Amino acid sequence: MAVTVLNTLLVGLLATGVEAVSNGLALTPPMGWNNWNAFGCDVSEELLLSTAETIINLGLRDLGYQYVVLDDCWQDVNGRDANGKLQPELSRFPNGLKSISDQLHSKGLKYGMYSSAGEMTCARFDGSLDHEVEDAQSFASWGVDFLKYDSCYHMGRIGTPQISFNRFKTMSDALNATGRPILLNLCNWGEDYVHTWGMSIANSWRITGDIYDSFTRPDDLCGCDTTISDPFCIAPGTHCSVLFILNKVAAFADRSIPGGWSDLDMLEVGQGGMTDEEYKAHFALWAALKSPLFLGNDLRDMPASALTIINNPAILALSQDPHGRSVTRVRRDVQGVAKDEWGMGETQVWSGYLQNGDEVVIFLNAGGEDIEMQVTLAEIFIPFGPGGSAPHVKSDWAVHDLWAHRMSEETAEALMAAATDERRAAILKDVNWYNATETPFEEGLRNNDPRLFGEKIGEVKAGGILKAPVTSHAARVFRLRRIAKQGETFKGKSIDRVAKDEL
Ligand code: GAL
Repeated sequence: MAVTVLNTLLVGLLATGVEAVSNGLALTPPMGWNNWNAFGCDVSEELLLSTAETIINLGLRDLGYQYVVLDDCWQDVNGRDANGKLQPELSRFPNGLKSISDQLHSKGLKYGMYSSAGEMTCARFDGSLDHEVEDAQSFASWGVDFLKYDSCYHMGRIGTPQISFNRFKTMSDALNATGRPILLNLCNWGEDYVHTWGMSIANSWRITGDIYDSFTRPDDLCGCDTTISDPFCIAPGTHCSVLFILNKVAAFADRSIPGGWSDLDMLEVGQGGMTDEEYKAHFALWAALKSPLFLGNDLRDMPASALTIINNPAILALSQDPHGRSVTRVRRDVQGVAKDEWGMGETQVWSGYLQNGDEVVIFLNAGGEDIEMQVTLAEIFIPFGPGGSAPHVKSDWAVHDLWAHRMSEETAEALMAAATDERRAAILKDVNWYNATETPFEEGLRNNDPRLFGEKIGEVKAGGILKAPVTSHAARVFRLRRIAKQGETFKGKSIDRVAKDEL
């Protein structure tokens, strides 16, 4: 039955010709929580279930954070059992893994797990290389909905796109053969040009070494040139800053499409190493770049400011926009930008088209001084035609600030302190907070739900320039909304249809 449903879906997807891998999953970027950034190997049933509880209590499930993902180190140190099956460490998972997925499913959440396309995982537990079929069956039998599939200890099966592709495809095929829809979150850190083939077999693919909790600081452990967009670097490593990851993805940000997303790695919001403005910028860029959005902090013990970043529905609506295309970088300035404490200094403008014809524009100031940034409409709309030829340039645009209606810290604190479901529901109702379980983002956007559109702060006239002050190490995030003139047409079509039809 599941296979038939999947096949029907598959035919539907191929017919439209725009989706990636054919398992019908992740038509918008997946959202959830993963334990790795905050807890590393310190995993347990208690951690997963208490975090799941918090996800629900704080209203995060109802904003789309669905997947609870158990990363590395869940296995028994003695390896596979007598029948060759992977097994969990019972002192940490005393009731087994199926019990966890059952509990998550009963709460409307989904369950994710981790393995590696190598003889060992990165933390040196048994890997799934050459055990793909039996391990996929184990994951399916445990009710797993998501597999993060790493690349450590690959036994030399790397070095060309074909070799890596085949190694990962074996697991992709094995998961599909189980008949259970399991989202494949490929993690080979950008090696072997994964941005050119990941979408054929996986729902997302990591494009860099591991993120760390710093906005711009270069670190030798994150190999490759940190000042250029270098898709071909080797030794991806760890300790990659937010700026490094942005510069890496810039050259192929347009590769993500519904069903297959470039993974910029899990979020650091709330971990403590960045300022509030840096976390806002990190979060908004990850959302607009359509990265999978996996919270990486301890949700049970976080500052109120972190909650008010990750629960902003106007930013989440960028991530979950049904059009499913990433912003691209239309401008980058390095010359003349003041350096920050790490010797880094640049500004960037990212923009992208949204399903309803709106345009998201992000000003990123990764320099050492507060400045005014600006960009012309002609540059914003370059993807629709260079040199100001895009029809959009001839329109006036209303400018909406998407952080304008961020939840107050008082409300967030009250929510975190509330002891009962009734009290929490009352707090969220009081501030009229968005609930994507009740009203999916697609519907809210279609109906112009004001909670998804921030606050109008100005206008840009046809042919004009968008300007805004941006403090050092911060981003401004705008949604531009076309101010349509009565009867306005382009090539005989209503102006509001132009962008979509011409993509
Ligand atoms: C790394 C991966 C991390 C984490 C870690 C676990 O390779 O990039 O996100 O999963 O392995 O050992």
